[in-house]
Amino acid sequence: MSRRLALVGLGPGDPELVTAQAARVLNEVDYFLVADKTAQHPGTADLIERRDAICERHVAGPWRTVHVADPERDRADPADYGAAVRDWHEARALAFESALLENPGDAAVLVWGDPALYDSAIRIADRIAERGVVDVEVEVVPGLSSVQLLAARHRLVLNTIGGPITITTGRRLLDDAASGDNLVVMLDGALTCCRLPDPSGWWIWWGANLGSPGEQLIAGRLDEVAEAIADRREEARSAQGWVMDTYLLRRVTRP
Ligand SMILES: C[S@@+](CC[C@H](N)C(=O)[O-])C[C@H]1O[C@@H](n2cnc3c(N)ncnc32)[C@H](O)[C@@H]1O
Repeated sequence: MSRRLALVGLGPGDPELVTAQAARVLNEVDYFLVADKTAQHPGTADLIERRDAICERHVAGPWRTVHVADPERDRADPADYGAAVRDWHEARALAFESALLENPGDAAVLVWGDPALYDSAIRIADRIAERGVVDVEVEVVPGLSSVQLLAARHRLVLNTIGGPITITTGRRLLDDAASGDNLVVMLDGALTCCRLPDPSGWWIWWGANLGSPGEQLIAGRLDEVAEAIADRREEARSAQGWVMDTYLLRRVTRP
């Protein structure tokens, strides 16, 4: 019989933002699998503690977590970014497969936010199923994404009336901003918005460590708030040991 491999979206860190379905699945499986990056990034230990806090709130009785050491990703050649990420997914799939072989029973992978948005869990689980070494039935349990929490915190509608929205990364922002006027930016370790050629032409709604005690929020015209954002970003990092931020950029419409 196939074993269950549930990819459970936990939301962006706040135990109150876990869905009833995610809580049910956490209570049904035998153990949890967590990608552990603490060897490369010691600050991320707090992220593992936040996952523990979520389990403590929602799991009745004791639970067991299996930590899967995250393989190092080759970041040396950004020109070959896609290939480097594919290799990394393959290495991660093998690491998770070993953990499943060593630990019988049904497992849930604890996914930050929603598994459908900039997360490798679905690709990795598909790869494990495809290899066929472990017989797994993959299921996806949605979670609240950091983008939804950003919108709620700023009381925002992400799209303009009837308009499109681009969800992109820091790596692509300068190109995407040339053609888009309403963009959500994720995975931006370098506050790339500060390098936009016309900072007075954009509004920004920014949030860091949303759903965690060190949450930070700033909104305003980019040229007026960029410095404050950079400062608060560093404050969040030193308070919590890690910083993850997401922001909406919208072009200022001229009368
Ligand atoms: C690997 S992606 C994971 C996204 C996640 N699956 C989601 O649904 O939010 C990591 C990026 O998500 C954003 N992010 C995740 N959690 C966040 C949080 N609590 N506050 C702000 N941004 C967050 C940041 O842009 C971060 O660089």
